[in-house]
Amino acid sequence: MTCKNIDIKERIIVALDVEHPDLAKDMVKRCESHTRYFKVGLQLFMASYFEVVDWIIDRGHKVMLDLKFFDIPETVKLAVEQVNSRGVSLATIHGNDAIIRAAMESRGDLQLLAVTVLTSFGEEDLRAMGMTQSVEDLVLFRARRALELGCDGVVSSGLEAERLRRDLGDKLLIVTPGIRPGLNISDGADDQKRVITAGRAIATGADHVVVGRPITKADDPIRVLEEMQQEIVDTI
Ligand code: C5P
Repeated sequence: MTCKNIDIKERIIVALDVEHPDLAKDMVKRCESHTRYFKVGLQLFMASYFEVVDWIIDRGHKVMLDLKFFDIPETVKLAVEQVNSRGVSLATIHGNDAIIRAAMESRGDLQLLAVTVLTSFGEEDLRAMGMTQSVEDLVLFRARRALELGCDGVVSSGLEAERLRRDLGDKLLIVTPGIRPGLNISDGADDQKRVITAGRAIATGADHVVVGRPITKADDPIRVLEEMQQEIVDTI
């Protein structure tokens, strides 16, 4: 169980996975009374470069830039350098020790999260990529390396949060996507496989949860946010 004292308005990071900057800004305006943490990922960044990132930060909110940098160490180092002075709070990288070390060299004040194993991967996906470890063991292995190399935290599913917290302690920031509301918590409903509710993720050790479609595709995003926040409050 995490001991970090995080404001409820920063527990849920809303993933702005939309195709146009105007749609992202509309979503921020709808949600900002309830949350002040937003994630910009590949789709929106391709559509708007830093425009929406800067706009969100100028409104006083936090941004997680989820571009999952993965390349040769020098390229990752230079990409992180492009981000480190823009006011972004969290950015994602992955790779081996040399890649993570290179990212650490140029991160400045930027907090870096290492992606462990995508929440859309199950055991069979690891086998199909030639990996023999279980998902949980691989997540733990990668998280331990990331922590040893100085990363601020990891992205993992809520199913591994408890073991990460138990084995690696409280210093590590755990950010958890693959969040689905309790009523439709079956895996296979979409591309996410290692799913959990927001409250369970926080209760078992996550610091933040990342929520996209359950909020952005909802008829009433605020109601979903409120229900998830209530579930989180009830668990901490
Ligand atoms: O719509 P949904 O709630 O599944 O969105 C989850 C978000 O979290 C997406 O933007 C996805 O790119 C991101 N993410 C993830 N799994 C990871 C890392 C990031 O689902 N391991």
